[in-house]
Amino acid sequence: MSKYPYIEACYRRPVPHTPIWIMRQAGRYMPQYQAVRGEVDFLTLCKTPELATEVTLLPIELLNVDAAILFSDILIPLEPMGIPVAFEDKVGPVLGAVRDEKEIRALRAIEPEEDVPFVLEAIRMLRSELEGRVPLIGFSGAPFTLATYGVEGGTTKSFHHIKGLVYSRPELADELMDKLADVVASYLNAQINAGAQAVQIFDTWGGILADSEYVRFALNPTKKVISKLDRKGVPVIYYLNNGSYLSHHMGDLDVDVIGIDWRQDISLARKSLGQFKAVQGNLDPTVLFASPDQIRKRAHRLMDEAGPEPGHIFNLGHGILPQTPMENAIALVEAVHEYKR
Ligand code: CP3
Repeated sequence: MSKYPYIEACYRRPVPHTPIWIMRQAGRYMPQYQAVRGEVDFLTLCKTPELATEVTLLPIELLNVDAAILFSDILIPLEPMGIPVAFEDKVGPVLGAVRDEKEIRALRAIEPEEDVPFVLEAIRMLRSELEGRVPLIGFSGAPFTLATYGVEGGTTKSFHHIKGLVYSRPELADELMDKLADVVASYLNAQINAGAQAVQIFDTWGGILADSEYVRFALNPTKKVISKLDRKGVPVIYYLNNGSYLSHHMGDLDVDVIGIDWRQDISLARKSLGQFKAVQGNLDPTVLFASPDQIRKRAHRLMDEAGPEPGHIFNLGHGILPQTPMENAIALVEAVHEYKR
């Protein structure tokens, strides 16, 4: 039995206050993060356990959030699979795109202890730094979201390469998702073994698909991942961005927590899911551009809407934006902690 409010809320047990963490909580909106990034590039930061640990701890110390999330990136396991990954300032991720049969079949399974030892080392360091303070969340991209980056070769507005693959070569797309599901499962199991106390699966791009394609190419591969997890009492969170129209599928997933984006009505999500799953979310990240007083009112309204039943974890509905004033993020955490029903 843990005493961490975050873990208790994941299992829908009563908590003294609603726990909060913020997606992308260690990031560019923080001057202290910028200072570290001024010295090293982003991938070096991800691959140096001492630095990843230092940056992971920043929001615990500066914001007082109720959980730490490992500082890394969802694209990290694609590199050892055989997809070159780079991050360019102002452009974002640039990958060596894999699109045809030959490229997709050449992708390798990964051995986390050999291929991404720095991730597991950071988790071990963080566990000893954090012990007794807050739990540590590990994470992976969902198979379809990773496939989107691998096939597009970066960020995109049209998604025509990945959706082109889905519609023109569905069996080849199945093969890719299957391979990614194996990688994601072994990656998350390695994180759990190294000491991650919760794991989140980020499906940032699941919400670009039509319903039946979502089921075949995103939901089913995610179910495969979940079936292969050796959870060891660790809660599993599935975050789906832009997924309001897919919410009727969420009950099918054997996870403890569903993370919802800011477009959804949280009271509806709690009504449809609350008996079976905790709900994580879902303040619009741009609320943090209002005044601290407006932020507080908006956060309290969201908690009223989420209702008194156990199993709400406060978060933004997507990552915090780099332009966010840090004092407003601090005000949000205070507002959530001071809330009385
Ligand atoms: O949440 C955290 O604080 C933990 C660290 C974390 C990062 N990325 C750090 C990061 C996590 C959990 C992620 C997940 C991630 N990465 C997702 C899923 C969540 C989401 O936002 O939907 C996605 C889609 C990515 C891929 C990615 N990484 C993109 C598209 C970019 C460039 C765009 C951007 O926001 O900068 C990144 C870079 C990245 N990942 C940064 C950070 C702090 C900025 C890098 C920098 O310092 O220059």
